[in-house]
Amino acid sequence: MKHFSLKSIIAAGLATIVAGCTSQTSTQMSGEEQKFISELMSNMTLEEKIGQLNLLPAPGPIVTGISEQTEIVSQIKEGMVGSILNIKGADAIREYQRIAVEESRLGIPILFGLDVIHGYQTEFPIPLAVSCAWDTLAVTESAVIAAREAATDGIAWTYSPMVDICRDARWGRIAEGNGEDPWLSGLIGQAYVRGYQGDDLAGEETILACLKHYALYGAAESGRDYNTTDMSENRMFNEYLLPYKMSVEAGVGSVMTSFNDINGTPASANKWLMNDVLREQWGFDGFLVTDYSAIFEMKAHGLGNEDVLTERAMNATVDMDMCGNCYINQLTRLVKEGRITERQIDTACERVLHAKYALGLFDDPYRYINKEKGEKELFKAENRAAARRITAETFVLLKNEGNLLPLEKKGRIALIGPVAGSKAQLTGCWSVSSDYSKYTTIYESMSKYLEGKAEVKYAEGCHYSYDPELEKHFLWNDSASTRSHKELLDEALATARWADVVVAVLGETKEMTGEAASMCNIEMQASQRDLLEALLKTGKPVVLLLANGRPMALKWEQENVPAIMDIWFPGSEAGDAICDVLFGDKAPMGHLTTTFPQHAGQLPIYYNHKNTGRPIGENDYAKYTSGYLDVTNAPLYPFGYGLSYTTFEMSDIDLSSPTMNADGSIDATVIVTNTGTREGTALIQLYTRDLIASVTRPVQELKGFQHCTLKPGASTPVKFTITPDMLRFYDSQLNYINEKGDFDLMIGFNCRDVKHETFTLE
Ligand code: BGC
Repeated sequence: MKHFSLKSIIAAGLATIVAGCTSQTSTQMSGEEQKFISELMSNMTLEEKIGQLNLLPAPGPIVTGISEQTEIVSQIKEGMVGSILNIKGADAIREYQRIAVEESRLGIPILFGLDVIHGYQTEFPIPLAVSCAWDTLAVTESAVIAAREAATDGIAWTYSPMVDICRDARWGRIAEGNGEDPWLSGLIGQAYVRGYQGDDLAGEETILACLKHYALYGAAESGRDYNTTDMSENRMFNEYLLPYKMSVEAGVGSVMTSFNDINGTPASANKWLMNDVLREQWGFDGFLVTDYSAIFEMKAHGLGNEDVLTERAMNATVDMDMCGNCYINQLTRLVKEGRITERQIDTACERVLHAKYALGLFDDPYRYINKEKGEKELFKAENRAAARRITAETFVLLKNEGNLLPLEKKGRIALIGPVAGSKAQLTGCWSVSSDYSKYTTIYESMSKYLEGKAEVKYAEGCHYSYDPELEKHFLWNDSASTRSHKELLDEALATARWADVVVAVLGETKEMTGEAASMCNIEMQASQRDLLEALLKTGKPVVLLLANGRPMALKWEQENVPAIMDIWFPGSEAGDAICDVLFGDKAPMGHLTTTFPQHAGQLPIYYNHKNTGRPIGENDYAKYTSGYLDVTNAPLYPFGYGLSYTTFEMSDIDLSSPTMNADGSIDATVIVTNTGTREGTALIQLYTRDLIASVTRPVQELKGFQHCTLKPGASTPVKFTITPDMLRFYDSQLNYINEKGDFDLMIGFNCRDVKHETFTLE
């Protein structure tokens, strides 16, 4: 391997030093770095600087947007490509890097990015599932493993965390976020950032994180992807922006603009959001990249031609153009015409170079590529063991009539449903780096798990949809069963009749959530519902393992199926993790971070909503109140909900004082008791409600949570300390303030099942 170090060449004085570099310096730069970057930039042509702002897709099998995939080698040689995405494999990355460092004039290393969203080869569950563990340490651990694996292949930059708040399950990308609570999502965003970036970005096992999609992408109207958002600033700051802000506070190194229009200005042209809020208010000093061709797409938004769009994106302080070719095609001319200053280009270029410097790429452009290490690291037993443990934490037990679960490891088990026999379906959206050949199906894992103890038979059971066209969309690259509906059903029923218990794995395919996967019908597809109904009619006990990437409307299932456990899209260790929980070696401990509606017509539905002037009990109806004629306001499963194999009870709240001073705090304590017969882990949640304020406030807001693991009969005190800081909000003038007055304090097992107390902030 030829060792190349641009940094050492410059240090040795081989670079031409041109005085008078005009670039601004980032606050994070050391003197040495500042000198290095100034010298490098002083040697760059305008075109080469613009090249650093150009992010292109590598031609190949990974496609994540609409753009022509062209040959990029000649552009790399000309110094016109600063970063590349959608490439994997140490050899391929090394070769592109070699071309950049050896065959371009300045040899500036390329930054390689990929959507490493929930694991690289060791796949963790989809982010929405991971959020249901309410375990920030587990999030960080998953990100450390993902970064370590991805880094050996040469990936230095991941497009994660995604912290878009979503309250509308029709939106397919709800699967990629951390649920509907802004504070919890922020904590999780921070945990991802810590895991990817670690303490030292230049380390061989850390990669640059990219916070996305800034901003409000999850509030797309009607849950339709890429759609408009229009929102008051009060709502933005109180309900949507917090997780982005918290991730910036955790030091995320890059931020991605979202596709959507925000109050008339799409994010990539939104100077207020990008510069005034993100950079100036929150102090973000990393670089800003667009989402895939988002600058170009502003043409369809009706903002003008590419020159105008480029100008607007540059003026919004967007540094890098992802796959839009606007910067590379327009910026030189715009500078010549005086519409964009060279100083703006310098600032953007410097931010990108700073990231490359911080990643250590100037010391060794190949530092992230280590095939030998990769062979040992990728999908190694230790990584898989961590994934199995974390995956088991994400399952949410939704119903368990008559303690049907856990199942005994004996007798005959019918495992039914296409997901149970599929590898591709297990990983969910964004699994571009998965290697399915390494995984086992749920059926294979379960057969092994129960070897010598119980018999398992598998039947595919149904098509994902009765409509073949729809099934094609649901499967995209995967193939549909070639067997008829009747053949599949007959086989499934015969298998069920043979068995003592039926485990049906049904719900969604992985293509039914993620990008461009909005759905109007969020119920179980008829082909799957009919199978479930037929299985129930056999009279055998039926457990539904729900594979899904969004909250689904499962009223019928809740009413008819005795046991339901949400396994989401569980990743590469699905089979073993499912067996761990299904057969009781572990207790389920996941809790919903997103509300499940009874009906899609209730959307958007979320626990932290405001009151109307005519509120009504969740299960009631009355004329002239705020509800629906045909469906109550109650969710099917509320935020924070999740059962265990045991039961818990909670004492009333013991408050250390009914009043709190502006600079004081109060403690709220409950005693939690395991009243069942098995060990289990409870998630104790703290909520507050500001009862009287100068602006309307939500009926509930999550302010704390704690896990407690208890043996049968055991009790423990759980104490929360509440401070005035936790009660602050943005008022009508966007001042972040405390207001004196009364608060309702709630502690419980989910947002509905709570004890109440009140206190006064003085
Ligand atoms: C998605 C982003 C993703 C990017 C790069 C876009 O289509 O919206 O979330 O990071 O592609 O693959």
